[in-house]
Amino acid sequence: MQKAYIAEIGRYTGKSVLLEGWVYNSRRGGKLFFLLVRDGTGIMQCVAFKPEIGAERFAELEKLTQESSIRVWGNVRADERAPGGYELSMEGFEVVQIAEEFPITPKEHGSSFLLDHRHLWLRSKKQFAILKVRARTQKAIRDFFDSRGFTLLDTPIFTPNACEGTTTLFETDYFGDKAYLTQSGQLYNEATAAAFGKVYTFGPTFRAEKSKTRRHLTEFWMVEPEVAWARLDDIIELGEEFVTYVVEQVLQDCRGLLVDVLERDLSKLEAVKAPFQRLHYDEAVKLLNDKGNAFEWGSDFGAPDETLIAEQFDTPVVVHHFPAAIKAFYMEPDPDDAKYCLSVDFLAPEGYGEIIGGGERSANLDYLREQIEKHDLPESVFRWYLDLRRYGAFPHSGFGLGLERTVSWICGIHHLREAIPFPRTLQRLEP
Ligand code: 4AD
Ligand code: MG
Repeated sequence: MQKAYIAEIGRYTGKSVLLEGWVYNSRRGGKLFFLLVRDGTGIMQCVAFKPEIGAERFAELEKLTQESSIRVWGNVRADERAPGGYELSMEGFEVVQIAEEFPITPKEHGSSFLLDHRHLWLRSKKQFAILKVRARTQKAIRDFFDSRGFTLLDTPIFTPNACEGTTTLFETDYFGDKAYLTQSGQLYNEATAAAFGKVYTFGPTFRAEKSKTRRHLTEFWMVEPEVAWARLDDIIELGEEFVTYVVEQVLQDCRGLLVDVLERDLSKLEAVKAPFQRLHYDEAVKLLNDKGNAFEWGSDFGAPDETLIAEQFDTPVVVHHFPAAIKAFYMEPDPDDAKYCLSVDFLAPEGYGEIIGGGERSANLDYLREQIEKHDLPESVFRWYLDLRRYGAFPHSGFGLGLERTVSWICGIHHLREAIPFPRTLQRLEP
């Protein structure tokens, strides 16, 4: 018997195939038994007719519980009324295991119950759709950089130093020394950029975020390109093209999941086309003040500020030239006014907040030494980093895009934790 996958079932019209999967749902209608089978690629209706299959076997079907594992075989028929457009006329089946009562039923469950059962919740339609979009987003990210001459170079997860400030470091014991889980691969990207020109790293990053917001995870994935000789404007342009490409690719391949399962308003995503609206930090502050928000110059935007700024435009908003005092130690100061730095944040539309943070890096050895001291960072562990300014210092820029923030925005979901298979937050290390 030919084994088939539901996603490709159309190829087998008129033929007999074997499906292996789990019972998603079932119902009886007179002499017919309808079994919805899920195989990880789709859900398909399989129909048994009592006179054909026999009374004894028909009774066995009625004992199948939700998520029981099963092999079924039969003839594939095109049927407009069936979900997905095809139906399997069952010729036989083999029960692999009758599942115990499945904790997640079609009724509403609280989010903490669902998160406790994340290992099972992954089987539901909505979670399936979100994580399919995540996988497609990851592929689009890699395709974008791979097709533009970037080299993928992985950066370490155990690091001896902070990158994005010391308040969110996860400390671990490293054979009697201290090591920290990486907050960003950027510093290592700067070294590989001097060797390879255009590089990117894509992997998990860690922040001991003590806040319980819907936008923060303690473990999240970030893609970080770094480009030798690029200036702030170049990296903004790269970011605009990048976000446009990723959204376009996901829209192209995941339209059905986005519309049918996630009920996403696609017009919002279709409007995402480079170039984006760009605002100097001062202009963003003025915009907030004009809208009646008492935001003070010199502070960093909070979630409500980001939402208010983003609401004014259809595309993501690019805010640049933040005050140097609120950004990381490595930022290049604005040559016209050192109060500012050559930094950039991309704010997603519809209140999804900052998806990209980046900028131009200082190439100046003395300035960086001063900054390292000012930020209370131990110079000894930055020795290798400062070497990059000793041996052929060069202008360079880069950014980091948070995968889960991007996926939640594309899917239009409320909380970041559904955008990763097994979320890690302040209160959650399990499952
Ligand atoms: O703005 P961030 O902190 O920038 C950096 O780490 C730079 N070193 C990147 C670089 O220039 N190579 O973080 C970048 C992005 C944010 O815009 C956000 O999308 C995401 O990472 N991010 C988080 N996502 C989920 N949970 C968190 N706790 C996050 N913190 C940052
Ligand atoms: Mg940031």
